[in-house]
Amino acid sequence: MEFRYKRVVFLTGAGISAESGVRTFRDGQGLWENHKVEEVASPLGFKRNPALVWKFYSMRRMQANDVQPNPAHIALADTLHALGKAGARALLITQNVDTLHERAFGALPNKDFIDVHGTLSRSRCTKCNKVFSDRWAYFDGQQHVIAHHCDNLWSHPALPNLLTTPRRDPSGLPLSPCCSDLLRPDIVWFGEKPQGVERAIDQLTSCDLFVSIGTSGNVYPAAGFVTVARKAGAHTVSINLEPPENSAAFHEHLNGLASEKVADFLKKI
Ligand code: APR
Repeated sequence: MEFRYKRVVFLTGAGISAESGVRTFRDGQGLWENHKVEEVASPLGFKRNPALVWKFYSMRRMQANDVQPNPAHIALADTLHALGKAGARALLITQNVDTLHERAFGALPNKDFIDVHGTLSRSRCTKCNKVFSDRWAYFDGQQHVIAHHCDNLWSHPALPNLLTTPRRDPSGLPLSPCCSDLLRPDIVWFGEKPQGVERAIDQLTSCDLFVSIGTSGNVYPAAGFVTVARKAGAHTVSINLEPPENSAAFHEHLNGLASEKVADFLKKI
């Protein structure tokens, strides 16, 4: 397969997963499922009440496990494979933690994929920061401890550092195999630094096509990636239900559902 572009960067946000039925957790009053955002998604919240945080993320893992990648995730995964085979350089940056890109791809090779806000499918040691693939929901919907491994979560191959039977503390919280200290979700919480931004910028400064899909363009640093790509001389395209907030920075805007527009657009690159 031949491609017009040889160095491509994709950026995705919540809109690409909307048609999979991924729930967003924030309502108008800064609450997630009746919890204050800072209680369940901040380092201080975790320090104060790790059980509440793990109950919340166990629920999110189970909800994510109930939804499937949609045609937009699949078209993007196929195109990344094809670009790689054709000798082009391609990078997918996502702001989503929902695991749907990972699952559409099988298991995304690290060099082609950056989840700047982390992912529900990893945990890390609170002591040494070692990262693990973690398919567990530790608490059920009634917030009771789940003692057994839930096999169907994140069942894609080639998971690095897979936690098979993590040790638990007496209250059911998971402990890291490396330091026997608490594990935490590998999610970028409020007040924390997004992951992999330097690597993203490196590829943005030399890309010839930048495509943003399903993101409102108001959360930085991702909202600024288009400007970096454009300065590098890339053609810049946004695919979204509505023009994003940073729409002035794009050469082209394609209005519509990701499940329809993404596959159509990718046929032309
Ligand atoms: N197809 C295409 N676009 C869609 C669809 C769809 N089916 N459904 C919704 N959209 C668009 C919306 O119009 C909106 O502009 O997707 C965009 C989603 O915007 P946000 O909800 O702001 O999501 P995102 O841009 O990913 O947010 C960035 O903010 O809340 C934090 O950390 C969170 O990663 C998230 C970050």
